[in-house]
Amino acid sequence: MRLQHKFGIDQYAAKQQGKTTEVIYDSDAMINPHVLLAGSTGTGKSHQLRELLDRASMYIDGDSSIDIFDVHAELDIGQASVVKYSAQTGYGYNPLIINPDVHSGGVLNSINNFIRLVNTTTVQLGTKQQATLRYLMIDLYAERGITEDNVRSWRMAYEKQPSIQDLIDFTRTKVLTTQFGTDSIATNVQSITRLVKGIRRSKLHEAARQKLSVQGHAVNEDLSAEEAADQGSVEEMESQLDKLNEKTENMFQLFLKGLKTGDELDVFFKYNNKEVMMSLVERLTTINSAGIFNHNPPPFDSNVRCHEIMSLGDDFQKLFVYMRLEAIFREARDRGHTSEIRYIVVLDEAHKFFKDESDNIINIIAKEGRKFGIALWCASQSPTHFSEEFLINTACIVLLGIHSSYWDMAVKRLRIKLDNLKWTKPKKVVSIKMQLKGASDPQFRSVVLASYESEFLAEIAQGRAA
Ligand SMILES: Nc1ncnc2c1ncn2[C@@H]1O[C@H](COP(=O)(O)OP(=O)(O)OP(=O)(O)O)[C@@H](O)[C@H]1O
Ligand SMILES: [Mg+2]
Repeated sequence: MRLQHKFGIDQYAAKQQGKTTEVIYDSDAMINPHVLLAGSTGTGKSHQLRELLDRASMYIDGDSSIDIFDVHAELDIGQASVVKYSAQTGYGYNPLIINPDVHSGGVLNSINNFIRLVNTTTVQLGTKQQATLRYLMIDLYAERGITEDNVRSWRMAYEKQPSIQDLIDFTRTKVLTTQFGTDSIATNVQSITRLVKGIRRSKLHEAARQKLSVQGHAVNEDLSAEEAADQGSVEEMESQLDKLNEKTENMFQLFLKGLKTGDELDVFFKYNNKEVMMSLVERLTTINSAGIFNHNPPPFDSNVRCHEIMSLGDDFQKLFVYMRLEAIFREARDRGHTSEIRYIVVLDEAHKFFKDESDNIINIIAKEGRKFGIALWCASQSPTHFSEEFLINTACIVLLGIHSSYWDMAVKRLRIKLDNLKWTKPKKVVSIKMQLKGASDPQFRSVVLASYESEFLAEIAQGRAA
């Protein structure tokens, strides 16, 4: 689709030259369709986003879609199908589903993506945790018949692919079989040696006692009483020993019978760090507790989808948004190059999700999304949270009014003139910079918003008449 939306009219042209020059967002004219709306609270970011969205939703067809990530439940425009995400509603997506694309998909890519996703939260995984998680995931996929070298296995039905809960259960089982299992054989062996020693000492003591009594000497009864109390009678100890021997023999046999692949020792060494394994179980359980990482996609009945994520904690909001953005980017890339807009992605409070790293999905979409038909529309309270790279890659920047204490920073970061900032009046006059195809480095312009246009023109006419 080609999208056109009138923001308003050029203030300077109207005031100084008496001309009405419309300032229009035109996806065909701009070097990319991305937008950043920045302004302090209450300056009208959500309002402008809604106007843009109302316009865009008129153009949406079966080939295109809008995904709105709404952190304040402010952007549920009429045409949108709204879904709330929480542990209660239970809607979500499974981040472990393998991407079947021959070039960008596969087991190892999925594992790397998942680890990267987990590392976008506040607490990063340590080196040992990452290595162990990688092994666990490879083994879990393999158990389900999905392996890196079998490209056909990447297309396995969704319900047969593992979930985070499966990964937790798998990790727990590995702890039990490799750690606890061998631990209990070792514990039994220790008990056996203790009993054998006890029996031997008791027997020696008994022999000494009998020898002394034959010779008519007094016997140190205290010692034997103490030993007896400590370890029970020789008969008792022997009976315990028999039982324990039998149990341990069985365990050994089970262990030996369990040697099927010849890799058991490797498995043991891979998963031998109980602390690392348990810390992974804990971490995965926390992630899973959000209730949004199951394969239970929400029942959207429109291509205009509003994802309400206000009930999720900050880390889960991030995980969710990154996961969805990666999926949208992947789908768009798999569909190939286009000059049309096929996907509109809307991020309110975008600074929350923004990271400087260039492999962050928001930066990737800002840089490469245009080629694949993705328009990224972000709103944020400050333009200074964004990297130079992101700002360069966003063709349309709209400043709706920022507090004067941020003006110096805005002048430096955005190369906006102080005059433009002074002319800005929230909800009436904004500053807009648009990079058009074939045009040189654009300047910010003061733009009278469409909602204020007639009032503004009337004021000018009055001024002229006076
Ligand atoms: N151009 C406008 N014309 C008329 N009313 C407007 C305009 N822009 C915003 N408003 C109104 O001003 C109020 C605040 O706007 P809005 O909620 O869009 O601000 P915001 O920048 O998103 O704030 P926050 O950062 O707190 O989310 C709303 O009631 C909105 O309807
Ligand atoms: Mg808002």
